[in-house]
Amino acid sequence: MTYVENKDMGNLRIVAFAGSLRKESYNKKILEIIAEKVAGYDVEIKILDLNDYEIPLFNQDIEDEGMPLKTKEFKKEIHNANAILIASPEYNGSFSGVLKNVIDWVSRKLNPNESMYEAFAKKPVGLVAASPGGLGGIRGIIQLRGVMFDLKAAVMPEYASISEAYNIDETKIAKLEAFGGNYIEFCKKLI
Ligand SMILES: Cc1cc2nc3c(=O)[nH]c(=O)nc-3n(C[C@H](O)[C@H](O)[C@H](O)COP(=O)(O)O)c2cc1C
Repeated sequence: MTYVENKDMGNLRIVAFAGSLRKESYNKKILEIIAEKVAGYDVEIKILDLNDYEIPLFNQDIEDEGMPLKTKEFKKEIHNANAILIASPEYNGSFSGVLKNVIDWVSRKLNPNESMYEAFAKKPVGLVAASPGGLGGIRGIIQLRGVMFDLKAAVMPEYASISEAYNIDETKIAKLEAFGGNYIEFCKKLI
């Protein structure tokens, strides 16, 4: 069940991405399902694929030469969004290294006047996870929350985790739909 009361969301621009580079990523898939299910609401939800940005492993030597162009493009997408939705794969009980690397780059300043918190601070951040295992990636989400708090994001307390993600049935789709509706309602309260 979703709790969205008002479909007029004005200028809500959600940027979503999964911390996976895998073509058939379950995490990319659940973002697509959420986006499809909230399509009826007056919101813009843009899903970014990290493969399009070729973001290098963070290295301050690279940064000293200037943030790579495509990394900068990705950072700007996050910067210009007023809400962010992240799908987090779980690796060894935590969120993926790919995801942490991207977050680290986005937290870096493009100019001296910028705060490291600008991209995420005060923005409603929704967290979801999908995994073939039985816990659905919740251990990664719990740790990701800590990082997002550190960046002063307004993390939505509710999250959605999808276990046995090789089989996304109607019950799981309904869970994602409910999460999507609640996330939009949460964004509405903060934007
Ligand atoms: C190095 C590694 C560690 C993993 N550790 C976990 C884990 O701790 N918990 C879990 O549920 N799945 C784990 N998995 C399985 C991933 O959840 C699975 O590969 C999943 O498909 C990754 O997300 P994606 O489909 O979005 O790429 C691991 C996979 C790899 C490659």
